[in-house]
Amino acid sequence: MPAIAVIGAQWGDEGKGKVVDMLAEKAKVVVRFSGGDNAGHTVINPYGKFGLRLVPSGIFSSRTVCIIGNGVVINPEVLIGEIDLINQHGVDTSRLFISDRANLIMPYHTLLDGLEEEARGGKAIGTTRKGIGPAFADKVARLGIRAGDLLDREAFLERLRQIMDYKNTILTRVYGVEPLSPDEVYRQYCQYGERLAPHIRDTSVMVEEALERGEKVLLEGAQGTLLDPDFGTYPFTTSSSPLAGEGSLGVGIGPTRISDVLGVFKAYCTRVGAGPMPTELQDETSDLIRERGHEYGTVSGRPRRCGWFDAVAGRFSSRINGFTGAAITRLDILDTLPRLKICTGYKLEGKMIDYFPSSVVALAKCQPVYEELSGWQVPTNDIRKFEELPLQARQYIARLEELIACPVAIVCVGPEREQSIIRRDIL
Ligand code: IMP
Repeated sequence: MPAIAVIGAQWGDEGKGKVVDMLAEKAKVVVRFSGGDNAGHTVINPYGKFGLRLVPSGIFSSRTVCIIGNGVVINPEVLIGEIDLINQHGVDTSRLFISDRANLIMPYHTLLDGLEEEARGGKAIGTTRKGIGPAFADKVARLGIRAGDLLDREAFLERLRQIMDYKNTILTRVYGVEPLSPDEVYRQYCQYGERLAPHIRDTSVMVEEALERGEKVLLEGAQGTLLDPDFGTYPFTTSSSPLAGEGSLGVGIGPTRISDVLGVFKAYCTRVGAGPMPTELQDETSDLIRERGHEYGTVSGRPRRCGWFDAVAGRFSSRINGFTGAAITRLDILDTLPRLKICTGYKLEGKMIDYFPSSVVALAKCQPVYEELSGWQVPTNDIRKFEELPLQARQYIARLEELIACPVAIVCVGPEREQSIIRRDIL
């Protein structure tokens, strides 16, 4: 049985957590493959409401093995806190495994994330300040500490001293702040290591073996396509790839193992942090969407920027991920609107374009060109069959489907697991 990837198709916060939580019931293995605790996946189920940041949403299905793959950067303190919280709700976490190759977020990463953002002044990216960027930068600079390093204390101490020598020079000489104590960091991380040791494995082998046994494997994306460092609104992006291709690299399986890629889109657009967003609204419609949709960051609490569905960006996202199906979430948030708009093209310096520009300077100049549709103005929260949706809602979905060039398999009409319309079985 091949693997299926669930990917954020916009700027993150599309509702991947809920979709994975639904699909995880049928999966034997769920793997997170990128990002870190900058992600916030809200899951509501019989155990309660959780804002998961690192643990894959599949943890609530008792037969599912959950893996944090090598492509994730792990803040051990956050992970342990999350494990404790999940345990307190009566959920077993002995089925949670961490790749020994996953890089760790160290105290200097979090510190540097804040200092770097402050140094950027008016050009700040609006990062989550969780140390994600500095940790991924260290991974490629070959200055990272990996989960597996915690299992060999002597080698860990030697490597930590060498790296912290360098980090403390930057902290003191570039930013003029106090250095961090390597001994303290060592003691703290040895404690984390002791706690996490039973979970640390070569997880790539575990996934491969599951696939060999014919088990269903779900690859859980974090953030969204338009935050990808290559294809997103660079430099206003995150620092690891949220794309389907990373579902192979960030887990350690071959790309031919991924048979289906489900793109998760909100029925409108949101974004947190800085960077262009062509369909952003600053009027009563955006306030209405924000309040009805509780569009505030799961991790940072920041109000999200809201706007109409951007089908130019959607089509681009569908193409670079190779979506084989789409999930449209939060359709119900649009229930009260009399008219809806979909952005079908951009006007750039007087010319119509139908592609997503690679330059943020160009994207910031793009004026959205809209198509208008009628709203449905009836509640959709209790609808479970596609045919029972109001005609205008079906027309809206059909138009999105056409514009993003991808069939819609799932429509979500509320935050609860059951508030979903399944048109095609994904797993
Ligand atoms: P970082 O990932 O914390 O470095 O932040 C870089 C950019 O990605 C900022 O604009 C963040 O707001 C955004 N970002 C990171 N994680 C998420 C997420 O899970 N949802 C939405 N935006 C995110």
